[in-house]
Amino acid sequence: MPIIYFDQAASSFPKPPTVANAVAKAINEYGANPGRGGHQLANDAASVIYETRVKLAKLFGEKDPKNVIFCHNATHALNQAIMGFNFNKGDHILSTSYEHNSVRRPLEYLKKQKGVKVTYLNSNHNGYISREQLLKAISPGTKMIVATHGSNLTGTIFPIEMIGSVCKEKGITFLVDASQTAGILPIHMGEMNIDMLAFPGHKGLLGPQGTGALIIKKSVELTPLFFGGTGSHSEEKDQPNVRPDRYESGTLNTPGIAGLSAGIDEVISRGIDNIFQHEWELTKYCLERLQKIAGVTFFGPDVDIKRLAVIPFIIDGTDVQEIAMIFDQHYQVALRAGLHCTPLAHETIGTLEGGTLRASFGLYNTIEEIDQWITMVEEIKESLMG
Ligand SMILES: Cc1ncc(COP(=O)(O)O)c(C=O)c1O
Repeated sequence: MPIIYFDQAASSFPKPPTVANAVAKAINEYGANPGRGGHQLANDAASVIYETRVKLAKLFGEKDPKNVIFCHNATHALNQAIMGFNFNKGDHILSTSYEHNSVRRPLEYLKKQKGVKVTYLNSNHNGYISREQLLKAISPGTKMIVATHGSNLTGTIFPIEMIGSVCKEKGITFLVDASQTAGILPIHMGEMNIDMLAFPGHKGLLGPQGTGALIIKKSVELTPLFFGGTGSHSEEKDQPNVRPDRYESGTLNTPGIAGLSAGIDEVISRGIDNIFQHEWELTKYCLERLQKIAGVTFFGPDVDIKRLAVIPFIIDGTDVQEIAMIFDQHYQVALRAGLHCTPLAHETIGTLEGGTLRASFGLYNTIEEIDQWITMVEEIKESLMG
């Protein structure tokens, strides 16, 4: 029986064949160090990297590709954005109660180490945050708002356009964690007033693991996380000021970035709106079927509210790890159980104690797979609960 892969929120799989081909081509045909030496192979590697920068800038509405900084993953990008920002003691950061640990832990670190104040704003289960609620939470010391665009637990989509407009009005830096939405929902940094956008390459953008990026508007200055060789300005003892070099010390992941470039091409050729529509159809269908199974509880927005293709659920009275193991070993279904690196979101929806199972769908999943899976859920429920 082929594996049903419902863990797309962790990393997308399978990747388009063009991604593996591009990675292999980078390794086999131009595996030199980009930007280190003027020979032909180094130039070939550098051009693939530059082209990928241009594609990402265009995809996310940033004018200057030099503001696209390649990272290892979204966590790296978020750390660069948060830890690199010039916070002083007493400054305030506003965030949401749905953040992943890759936002929450740096914030908690700054709270302890720098005396920065942090507030996690609550939204309702549909992701609704009112403008008034947001304005009330802002104080004169608020320097940054960090918000996830979409929850990796509940699929809830947050109103980043509204938050961006408030940030612009109040002169607050706006950082968006687009880990679950890059390649799935339209994002335009200019129109949405986003100052920094952090995202992985290995989820919705269909690239290999080990890729991600942070796009930093020109007006935002950060202290680099890493200092070192950039292949440029080597005579200077200080880190160069020019972008992207300032934030990209060390050899880049050329094969990964080449694969990411192919992943972006696939996303563009399918169309972001079509991708979301497909994922939403799968999700809505699955929710409607789950709703009919007594003894299965799921969480997140109301069934008819559009969400990302992520469904947290439990089979009442059973242990989530045990169910995940049954799915894996008996049914060959890959899905995840536990806290999904977001205890804050679990606290918010009331599932911190036991965690949940999480089924998440992607571009290549089908209605037929969901039908098969629903039958499995019914079987497991029957056998455990009667
Ligand atoms: C909302 C959110 N933020 C951040 C991350 C971290 O992404 P990465 O594993 O690429 O660092 C994830 C990964 O699941 C996520 O879902």
